[in-house]
This record gives sequence, structure tokens and C-alpha cells, in this order.
Amino acid sequence: MTEIIENIKRAAIEISEAIKTQDTGKVETQNSSGDIQVKLDVISDTIVEKYMLNTSSVKEIISEEKESPVTKERGKYMVAYDPLDGSSLIDVDLSVGSIFGIYENGYNGENIKAAIYVVYGPRVEMVVARDVVELFRLNEKRGEFEFIKELKLQNKGKILGPGGTQKHWYPYHKEMIDSLFQEGYRLRYSGGMVPDLHQILLKEGGLFAYPGTTDKPKGKLRKLFEVFPFAYVYKKAGGYAVDGHKDLLSLKAEHYHDTTPCFFGSEYEINRVLETYKGKK
Ligand code: AHG
Ligand code: MN
Ligand code: MN
Repeated sequence: MTEIIENIKRAAIEISEAIKTQDTGKVETQNSSGDIQVKLDVISDTIVEKYMLNTSSVKEIISEEKESPVTKERGKYMVAYDPLDGSSLIDVDLSVGSIFGIYENGYNGENIKAAIYVVYGPRVEMVVARDVVELFRLNEKRGEFEFIKELKLQNKGKILGPGGTQKHWYPYHKEMIDSLFQEGYRLRYSGGMVPDLHQILLKEGGLFAYPGTTDKPKGKLRKLFEVFPFAYVYKKAGGYAVDGHKDLLSLKAEHYHDTTPCFFGSEYEINRVLETYKGKK
């Protein structure tokens, strides 16, 4: 596992360099979810692939940008990753990220053994969740990630990141979001789940929601690459991660690119979600 984390650090440093120097334009192709790819999606995917296939404990990799896994002969772990999350924000210079789930014996929620994400913002930060959740920051001069602190969520926060197209929200979802704003929650939403969830984690509470909607009943965010890794991070930090009804890590994945509605946050806000969604879709 240490070897995987060390190689993810190396990949992150290379991706961060690519973000600063490479063309921010689009490519002609789409990925498996039908998203428009930018050149940096493809470059980042290639960087992670290079490092992960060179890691002896990794036997298989699958990414948001790949139709199916790349398999090796030996190794214990399977790594599912989103090499560049929020890539549609690249051209407007907002923060983007990379997300990694380390799985063993399958890609269901219960198979995840560690999760890591990287935020490429004004500074590069990395969060590693195993038994505890730890924050690291890249020291650019030394080219090394330095440990900053352990991260823990409180029982209640003050900020709200409500995703999905509002026009297509179910009425009960809209009522819940409106009522949280009425309680005094403040809007914190960039359109990149990595910085949005990073903010809630660092501010020690709040709610990020990417619900099912009338046009996308299963939501947008992908189980293997986005949802399970963040569910693991939030749960290990003392928070909660649900699909509206169940713990996200109790879900199975039938296909590599399956999506699910998802809610991440602290205890108070997630209880509001569970009450709202009781008996609903
Ligand atoms: P990606 O760039 O990897 O395709 O994913 C972006 C995700 C996530 O970061 C964000 O929360 C969500 O898409 C926003 O999507 P919409 O703007 O389409 O709602
Ligand atoms: Mn993504
Ligand atoms: Mn992506």
C-alpha cells in the first residue's frame, strides 16, 4: 500500500506540472460516460497508468477515461481512478483534482481498502484515508509532500454544495436544500467535487449533494472513481456518505462506469437527507 501511495504522489506531481504547462483545449473524442474530454484528461490518465502499472502490488487499473481495465499478471490491489476530476473547469482556471480508490477482490463499496485524492489549487494538497485521514501539502521547492494534520469532521457544519441541474431536482430535494439555506447554510459550490468536498472536510462539516434528478435518476457521479473513494474518506473522517437511503459503501457496482446519487457530510446534515428521502426515490 505504501508503494501505491508513493507512486500516486509522483503521478500527482507530474499531473500538476502538466496542468501548468500543457494546452487546456478539448480533444475530438468522448470518454466512456459520454463526457467531452480535454487533452489534459488523456495526459493525466497516461501519467497515472505509467506509475500504477509500475507498482508491484497493483494487479489491475481502471479509470474514468478507460472502457475496461488494464490487467497485470501479479499484484494484490486494483486501482480505480479519475485522473482529472472537474476537467471542464481547466479553461477557467478553477481547482481540479485526481481521485483514487484502492480495492481488493472486486470493485464494490465494501472492497475499498484506501482512498486518496489530490487537489490542484493555488497549492497542491493530497488527502490519504486509511485508518485515519491525513492531509499532505506539496512543498514545490523540495518536490515532496509534507504531512500537515489529521482531518476530522464535526457533527454539524455551515456550508452546502448542492449539485445537479436545479430544473431537474425532485421537489422534496429542492425543499430540503431551501430549508437548509433558510437555516443559515452558505453556498459553496465550484462544480468540481474534489475542491467542493475538500472544503467541507477542511471546514469540518457541511453537506455536498449530487442527487438523482428527473433527467438522471442515478445521478452523475461514478461509483468506482468518485463516489466510493470519497465515501471512504468521509467515513474515516467521522462523517457519513449515503445514496439517500443506504451507506454508499454498502452498494455494489455492476458496471465499471455505474453512477449513483450521493450525499457526503456530517451527521446532522446526513440525517436531514435520510429523513427527506424516506419513502422517496
Ligand atoms: P469529470 O470532470 O471527471 O467528468 O467530473 C466532474 C464532476 C464533479 O467534479 C462535479 O461535481 C460534477 O461533475 C459537476 O457536474 P455538472 O456540472 O454536470 O453538474
Ligand atoms: Mn470526475
Ligand atoms: Mn475526470
